[in-house]
Amino acid sequence: MTLVRFIAEDGETVREVDAPAGARLLDVAQAEGEPLEGTCEGQMACSTCHVIVAAEDFERLPRASEEEEDMLDLAANVTRTSRLACQIWLTDELESLTVRMPGTVHNMMGR
Ligand code: FES
Repeated sequence: MTLVRFIAEDGETVREVDAPAGARLLDVAQAEGEPLEGTCEGQMACSTCHVIVAAEDFERLPRASEEEEDMLDLAANVTRTSRLACQIWLTDELESLTVRMPGTVHNMMGR
């Protein structure tokens, strides 16, 4: 089991859920009603499943593939620890994973 912690776009609302090893983060998020569209259903063709992973967890995940990196380049509000939720599978070793919803309207950078 992995304890998945979803932080809403506001940075404050937190939802925790136990998810079994082997589950895909995108599916867990959608089952919880988190706002991830996942339009392409994991084909790495949409980037609507973009999440921001907590820095300490990011380093414990397998690295993103080149395809995933390319897709992330197109996502809004990308950070250094951004990942595509359709490319993250939970494992027992992971124990816990915290991710934040990137949102769409709070990027005031560059103004
Ligand atoms: Fe489309 Fe993840 S669901 S890239």
